[in-house]
Amino acid sequence: PTNKTFTMIKPDAVRDGHSGSIIKMIEAAGFRVVAMKKTQLTPELAGKFYEVHKERPFYNDLCKYMSSGPIVPIILEKENAVTDFRTLIGATNPANAEEGTIRKLYAKSMEANAIHGSDSDENAEIEGNFFFAHIEQF
Ligand code: CMP
Repeated sequence: PTNKTFTMIKPDAVRDGHSGSIIKMIEAAGFRVVAMKKTQLTPELAGKFYEVHKERPFYNDLCKYMSSGPIVPIILEKENAVTDFRTLIGATNPANAEEGTIRKLYAKSMEANAIHGSDSDENAEIEGNFFFAHIEQF
């Protein structure tokens, strides 16, 4: 079934000039861009986006890092989007990421791991709507 996922190119990857290469890999893998922009989170908004992790030890650093520079949030569409996108980006820890994945190529550490990918259809919907109004999604 065709469905949607949500991704963000994270501050380290945007800062290093990898946005174009990453978007090229995403499109080459068959994903269609539904919505995309460049923006920057405040620490408060990053905290809201990652609220599910608020009890985790890495939460404060994560909010600081995610608001440290511009990001590129994107809504994507494809058959089996959530699962296939997580395969394309690779493991959260780049040390465990498969050859040829986006994180293997561009992630620097567990935290500065270049890109986000939603973990379920439900979260993809919530995360996409966090950044984009309905009239921006087509
Ligand atoms: P992401 O897939 O966006 O979801 C949560 C983010 O927290 C993760 O990518 C990393 O950027 C960051 N993070 C930092 N440390 C950890 C950790 N130990 N486990 C999971 N995520 C972590």
